[in-house]
Amino acid sequence: MSAAPLPEPLEPVVLPAGPVRLRPWREDDVDEVWTAFQDPDIRLWNGGGVASRTDALVLLGRRLDWSSGDHASWALVEPGRDDVVLGSVSLHSIDRFHGGASVGYWTAPAARGRGLAAVAVDAVCRWAFATLPIERVELCHAVENTASGRVAEKAGFTREGRLRRSYRYGDGATHDELLWSRLADDPAPGLSSRS
Ligand SMILES: CC(C)(COP(=O)(O)OP(=O)(O)OC[C@H]1O[C@@H](n2cnc3c(N)ncnc32)[C@H](O)[C@@H]1OP(=O)(O)O)[C@@H](O)C(=O)NCCC(=O)NCCS
Repeated sequence: MSAAPLPEPLEPVVLPAGPVRLRPWREDDVDEVWTAFQDPDIRLWNGGGVASRTDALVLLGRRLDWSSGDHASWALVEPGRDDVVLGSVSLHSIDRFHGGASVGYWTAPAARGRGLAAVAVDAVCRWAFATLPIERVELCHAVENTASGRVAEKAGFTREGRLRRSYRYGDGATHDELLWSRLADDPAPGLSSRS
């Protein structure tokens, strides 16, 4: 059996995606990130490890450095307003041997309800399938997080099953999760945002 391919450094890229622009994170986004992590839903579903502004800075440091080749992470911003962070999307656990990766995201409370998370996840999948040796993107969310399930559905993912007590979320409890995937040759979703 041949050796697994080593991760290759990735070059940060900007992805325009209609009503939203995906740009690499910058160190001066720290206040926007820390503000976002005051939101109870982000703390619960994304924020287990971000309890202080310093934690936010550490998270940002990891997200803006793509050199490990195992993730690609973007801030969602309004086109033409680079400084206002609307959300976050990250393709992580990039595995060139198995041809897979996972996606995670949040949107700031004021940006919700415009369909931006699904547009961003779709843009990341298209980029990944065109650029990386990736055939499958996975998405997991707690069963109780129905809004996240809607994002998966709208971004063209297929629900595969339920993972029992599979992940410890920000409330300290392990939750059952729903597992979804999108394959490179799945039909692309017909997305329209409500912006
Ligand atoms: C889940 C989340 C990313 C959705 O982002 P979004 O950009 O608002 O996505 P959408 O506009 O497509 O809305 C998705 C669903 O959120 C719900 N929603 C809509 N407007 C909302 C609002 N103002 N506030 C909260 N939820 C809302 C609806 O159920 C909607 O489904 P619908 O399109 O069938 O009505 C966002 O609510 C969020 O960041 N939540 C907290 C963190 C989180 O859950 N992250 C994902 C972890 S897996």
